[in-house]
Amino acid sequence: MKHPEGNLADSTRSFDGTTPLAREIAENTRRRRAIAAQSLPLPPEPRIFTVANQKGGVGKTTTTVNLAAALAREGARVLVIDLDPQGNASTALGVEHRADTPSVYDVIINDVPMIEVVQKSPESEQLYCLPATIHLAGAEIELVSLVAREQRLRTALDTFLDTFPDQFHYVFIDCPPSLGLLTINAFVAAKEVLIPIQCEYYALEGLSQLLSNIQLIERHLNPDLAVSTILLTMYDARTNLANQVVKDVRDHFPEQVLRTLIPRSVRISEAPSYGQTVISYDANSPGSLSYLEAAGEIAHRGAPE
Ligand SMILES: Nc1ncnc2c1ncn2[C@@H]1O[C@H](COP(=O)(O)OP(=O)(O)OP(=O)(O)O)[C@@H](O)[C@H]1O
Ligand SMILES: [Mg+2]
Repeated sequence: MKHPEGNLADSTRSFDGTTPLAREIAENTRRRRAIAAQSLPLPPEPRIFTVANQKGGVGKTTTTVNLAAALAREGARVLVIDLDPQGNASTALGVEHRADTPSVYDVIINDVPMIEVVQKSPESEQLYCLPATIHLAGAEIELVSLVAREQRLRTALDTFLDTFPDQFHYVFIDCPPSLGLLTINAFVAAKEVLIPIQCEYYALEGLSQLLSNIQLIERHLNPDLAVSTILLTMYDARTNLANQVVKDVRDHFPEQVLRTLIPRSVRISEAPSYGQTVISYDANSPGSLSYLEAAGEIAHRGAPE
């Protein structure tokens, strides 16, 4: 007669004799080794991304800070521009952003040079942040009466990149969840748009409005702008719905969607409360590995022609 515990153990074994947990550990080890072995090409010119989706809470900020940290860890010099009055990217990167801190508001409204405002993130020697403070909440209205109101961030960024003593490889602009003048400034300053899409029911709603706004910007304000990258976030493999969203988005945007999916992960959501990205908070967690893999894909694909 079989021992009952033996039966229980047998039931968790697959036909190749490994348990699901053992398989997961082996898979994580394989991914860690592949990441450790990868060497990422650096772009010859700075690649400037706007991370945008007018839908709130889809992972814009999480994607911005974690991709930036992943690329910095791989040797790139990276700047994050926090263009959201909520200041979440500044928090996650551990940079000062109290109300009296010089910030992106002073740059776009008062013409303060960016070089006087940019801070280095404690996360990495290679990672910089232009912080946002609460003052930015009023900028949307103040911008309306300013000259060249759509170009202000671009002018400041171009000057900064030309005059900074070292070359930057990547710039990520974290946008607020709206399509107002701040987001327009980001589209005008960037060359590439990265759209994070949450793997949930309403994922594709609002996307056509975002894409038609980007087309308008391309036609009238920035002919160099292209939606180069779509990243699926908060993926939960156990739900049919998430898999359906992945399929729909891949069918619609076969060129732009990264192979890497960002899983829903508690470690990812905890990291900002320690003023850290998941890359430094828990480097070997599945969420961290996914952002490192996504960074690898972005680097290897290069900028669009
Ligand atoms: N992969 C993930 N797994 C678990 N939680 C996540 C993940 N990505 C993001 N989150 C959490 O979801 C919430 C929204 O994420 P995030 O702030 O990045 O979205 P957002 O698009 O920047 O939001 P907003 O539109 O308000 O700026 C946050 O609490 C974040 O910690
Ligand atoms: Mg955000």
